[in-house]
Amino acid sequence: MEMDKLVSLCKRRGFLFQSSEIYGGIQGFWDYGPLGVELKRNIKEAWWRDMVSGHDELTQQQGTPSTYEMTGLDCTIIMHANVWKSSGHYDLFHDFMVDCRQTKKRYRHDQVRGRWVKAKEQRVFIATVAETALEDEDTQRRALKFFNLRAKHAEQLQWDTGYLNLTEVEDLTQVLGPDAKEVGTLTEPREFNLMFKTFVGALSGEEGTAFLRPETAQGIFVNFKNVLDSTRVRIPFGIAQIGKSFRNEITPRNFTFRSREFEQMEIEFFCHPDNSQKWYQYWRDRRMKWYTDLGLSDQRLILREHDEDELSHYSTGTADIEYQFPFLPEGEYGELEGIAHRGDFDLRSHMEGKLDPNTNPLEVELNEHGKPKYRGSGKDLTYRDDLSGERYTPHVIEPSAGADRATLAFLCEAYTEDEQPDENGKMQKRVVMKLHPRIAPIKAAVFPLVKKDGMPEIAKKIYADLKPFFNVFYDEKGAVGRRYRRQDEAGTPYCITVDGQSMEDGTITIRDRDSLEQIRIATDDVVDEIRKRIIT
Ligand code: GAP
Repeated sequence: MEMDKLVSLCKRRGFLFQSSEIYGGIQGFWDYGPLGVELKRNIKEAWWRDMVSGHDELTQQQGTPSTYEMTGLDCTIIMHANVWKSSGHYDLFHDFMVDCRQTKKRYRHDQVRGRWVKAKEQRVFIATVAETALEDEDTQRRALKFFNLRAKHAEQLQWDTGYLNLTEVEDLTQVLGPDAKEVGTLTEPREFNLMFKTFVGALSGEEGTAFLRPETAQGIFVNFKNVLDSTRVRIPFGIAQIGKSFRNEITPRNFTFRSREFEQMEIEFFCHPDNSQKWYQYWRDRRMKWYTDLGLSDQRLILREHDEDELSHYSTGTADIEYQFPFLPEGEYGELEGIAHRGDFDLRSHMEGKLDPNTNPLEVELNEHGKPKYRGSGKDLTYRDDLSGERYTPHVIEPSAGADRATLAFLCEAYTEDEQPDENGKMQKRVVMKLHPRIAPIKAAVFPLVKKDGMPEIAKKIYADLKPFFNVFYDEKGAVGRRYRRQDEAGTPYCITVDGQSMEDGTITIRDRDSLEQIRIATDDVVDEIRKRIIT
């Protein structure tokens, strides 16, 4: 599937719009249109229902280490600035960037890669931004242009290496920046903190400085004690949260994949340290299954365990669920969700401040008495098991998903082109969004075949019967074939049509979007039939 086609459908049918488009747009920010907002809400609701409100805490499910409880939170986006000092984000949440002196463009150092090529006795590193499917074509075209060669002389280009990351290139003077015309225009990499800064109240100095949260997770950790004290949850249990996060990404790209404002769906699962590995395995498998149950193909989905050198400073294990997005180069995958074993890092950090360098490689600033300058909240965030009497700092398993990335993956997976005969038997190209019925923005469309003979009245009655339960759509304009095709593009799984026979025997047809099969049932059974098909 070509990404351009999906991007254009998303705009044309109202799934996604560039934010502030009439002012020229703002990079890294996206608005969900009338169909998109329903799709994303359905994804978030499916997640909440499957992970939190629908979770059966009394019965041990197959493959689960034990029964467990799930609860939720909705925390603020702006929190006390010390939250980010303890979490490590204030000091460590940065990327390295390089600037191009010629084009004034800025790139994330680790997202630039390229190949060394020799021609006309000069060796140059042709850099490009990773995550672009056209990379090979683009690199060759730019190399030809740089050496002033025609395409028919491409054999004069001697490619020395395969793709290397820019981080592996020591001398930047021989690098042709991704958008530059000359070599040596990239600056040395510099640190760039990804948190958006703002000011709270009338104070504009350091005291008033606050940050937009870069992850929802910290709201959960700082409320751990509140949840324990206000509910009767016992370990093992999970706290879930869905909400906006903000990261001032240096190079937002690939539609909504890397945005500056996005939504996360995170669970912090608290367990006894002795059982943490079992829970880590459990959540990896459980989360992977969630995506396939909702329609992502396991051919395009992988669970990738991080290598030791990729692990964050606090993590003893992390696995990413990755999807083969169509905008990525062949064979490459993009992260949908990370499942991390965070140990006791977060709760201890909020108790003690930035952790000791002997246990974690974080720099701790010491005061004149050799004691850490910053000591966290100082609050006791340990857990006491009221049955065994044991007191300990729980370990945490964190399945952290992006609602926008999940939405994008479901959109990519759903986009399908096929050919179907029209009313006159002529083959017509059809674009159909094969979204799982649970997440489809519109569950059913109701059509009278024609706008007369009492058909609209019956169709409107069916619409009114369904509307309290499902998002349904009524349409009586134009040829029925065109109405079907519009709903195919919107991903509507069922179209209900009132026709001549309905007037005689009180039946209607239900057309299935994917199989195109039409069944005829009694009008009175429509609500039950749609319910049966949507709630699987
Ligand atoms: N609390 C852990 C955490 O935030 P992360 O891997 O940085 O981990 C989790 O983010 C998920 O949030 C990612 O797997 C991705 O789905 C989503 N995400 C992160 N940055 C994003 C961005 N710039 N745009 C869209 N989604 C993003």
